[in-house]
Amino acid sequence: MSMFPASVEATQKALEAHHYIADRGLAVAVYLALKLGRPLLLEGEPGVGKTEIVKVLAQVLHTRLIRLQCYEGLDISSAVYEWDYARQMMQIRLMEASGVREQDKVRHEVFSPAFLLKRPLLQALEMVEGKPPVLLIDELDRADEEFEAFLLEFLSDWQITVPEVGTLRAEQPPVVVITSNRTREIHDALKRRCMYYWIDYPSFEKEYRIVREKVPGLPEKLAQQIVAFVQALRQQDLYKAPGVAETLDWAASLLALDAVALAPGVIEDSLGVLLKYQDDVVRAKHQMQDLLARAQLAPQP
Ligand SMILES: Nc1ncnc2c1ncn2[C@@H]1O[C@H](COP(=O)(O)OP(=O)(O)OP(=O)(O)O)[C@@H](O)[C@H]1O
Ligand SMILES: [Mg+2]
Repeated sequence: MSMFPASVEATQKALEAHHYIADRGLAVAVYLALKLGRPLLLEGEPGVGKTEIVKVLAQVLHTRLIRLQCYEGLDISSAVYEWDYARQMMQIRLMEASGVREQDKVRHEVFSPAFLLKRPLLQALEMVEGKPPVLLIDELDRADEEFEAFLLEFLSDWQITVPEVGTLRAEQPPVVVITSNRTREIHDALKRRCMYYWIDYPSFEKEYRIVREKVPGLPEKLAQQIVAFVQALRQQDLYKAPGVAETLDWAASLLALDAVALAPGVIEDSLGVLLKYQDDVVRAKHQMQDLLARAQLAPQP
């Protein structure tokens, strides 16, 4: 039996069972990526659920999550493998102490797989309990293009060559999800290998469901107002619009402040949870009456 969900609907349901609300479009992309064995490339604004869906996917598939966080200067020794020098040195001393003198023998011993420190990409080639892992390559736009070129090769061959050891190959390729915040474009060659999906800011209905799912105990009316307020706020010309993460933090904050309904006082007290730039805070305060009016007209989901 396949470890993958059997349909788009089953995919959507399985994610939801783990508290992740996915639009049909996203569920289709995930389902097809699994079915066709393609990497999935997810782009979107910060805080819209790119990283979270991958964590949830590993739970859905009952498999290990391996995460490679990208950053400028990410290199092979952090992403793929590195030799464990300290242990190699110790081994060499041990062998010398026990009278082993042949250079070749020593070299052969210390450059064997037992002395490799496996980093995420190499780990991702290994199955655990007969299952390939989920490999999250997070925020690829932060890594250098050189690394992206290496990745392109990895994603087509599913193998890594360690010169001293040989080629290590995946019996079954991992489930790969790549995310990007689009601080630069990912190369076409890499995109061509992937299923692609843009995660947009959620609709009112979707965000309301996420809030209900993630902040239990929040009064229904307040939850509606919070979501309507954030949705209205996103339509303002802000330097940095709040993501779903901020909505959830704000909802938890208002719950902690014992608010039962939105009012200017409690909003102003807690705006710093939603907005992280002073200009945006000033703008929101300026538009308070209008934003609040729209929040109070919250549609019934
Ligand atoms: N569709 C969703 N269903 C459930 N929770 C969600 C959903 N979207 C976002 N969240 C929640 O919002 C928070 C932020 O999500 P996440 O960290 O995945 O965002 P991101 O897109 O990776 O952001 P960044 O680009 O900043 O890394 C998480 O706590 C996550 O649980
Ligand atoms: Mg993320």
